[in-house]
Amino acid sequence: MGPEIVVLGSLNMDLVVRTRHRPAPAETVIGTDFQIIPGGKGANQAVAAARLGGKAAMVGRVGNDIFGRSLLQSLERAGVDTSHVTSVDGVATGTALIVVDEAGENSIVVVPGANGRCSVEDVRAAEDLIRSAKILMVQLEIPLATVQFALEFAKENGVTVILDPAPAQPLPSAILEHVDIITPNETEASALTNREVTDARTARLAATDFLQRGVRRAVVKLGPKGAVFAEGNCVEQVAGFAVDAVDTTAAGDSFAGGLAVALIEGYPMREAIRFANAVGALSVTRFGAQTSMPVREEVEGFLRG
Ligand code: RIB
Repeated sequence: MGPEIVVLGSLNMDLVVRTRHRPAPAETVIGTDFQIIPGGKGANQAVAAARLGGKAAMVGRVGNDIFGRSLLQSLERAGVDTSHVTSVDGVATGTALIVVDEAGENSIVVVPGANGRCSVEDVRAAEDLIRSAKILMVQLEIPLATVQFALEFAKENGVTVILDPAPAQPLPSAILEHVDIITPNETEASALTNREVTDARTARLAATDFLQRGVRRAVVKLGPKGAVFAEGNCVEQVAGFAVDAVDTTAAGDSFAGGLAVALIEGYPMREAIRFANAVGALSVTRFGAQTSMPVREEVEGFLRG
């Protein structure tokens, strides 16, 4: 059987520094260490799903350089099918400059590089792969025209679409109407609904807004407070897990991977969100993006308490 989860999206090499606090405008701070860690929202989601036992494939682009080769290796080590990741000449692999503070919070600047070349042609080349999958996962670090084309193709072929709208940008209804599940965090939900989303109450309002704009199910992530889920007339909160945060980088990507795997395994939505919350929480206890993602046994042990 081929991959059940196809991830279309970005691959970035993360250049990460740790500091006591993140610099304010015009401030210079001293960092404590520097690491180069495989990342990119798309690649992170694929790795998260594969570590949990999902059969995942990645569609995207890297540059023909050392970062690109290293990102491919990281995916392959996790068991992700990389046959639809193209190496392109003349453009660098995407990079992300990440500053992580003592509280585990981060600031990220992404330089898309080869991700900016991920095109409709890449989706066309992966049509058979997507058609035979159950879930297509997409984020917003590749061109929006590519995202839209892939969503339309997935919907025509009965493939469930999970959109993680990160980093947030205005989304036309032509995109939202093709989304089965949208998974913004508080910042993204605020940007996309023009509401300040800071807690479960405001997350409920935002989740309902997404449904009114054509999305089938909305999951607004609230970190340790869990997530608010809306579908039809039902809106409910699924509790999260409080952990000692080391680094929140890729918590949302870990959540997305967990959600996809749980849904493929037939978990009801509420249970799938609980599982995804646990995957996200575990990732927060470790440093880095792909370095922080748990394997299945760890998640099950965590959920058993
Ligand atoms: O979601 C975390 C990711 O965002 C990082 O790995 C970085 O590459 C950026 O894409």
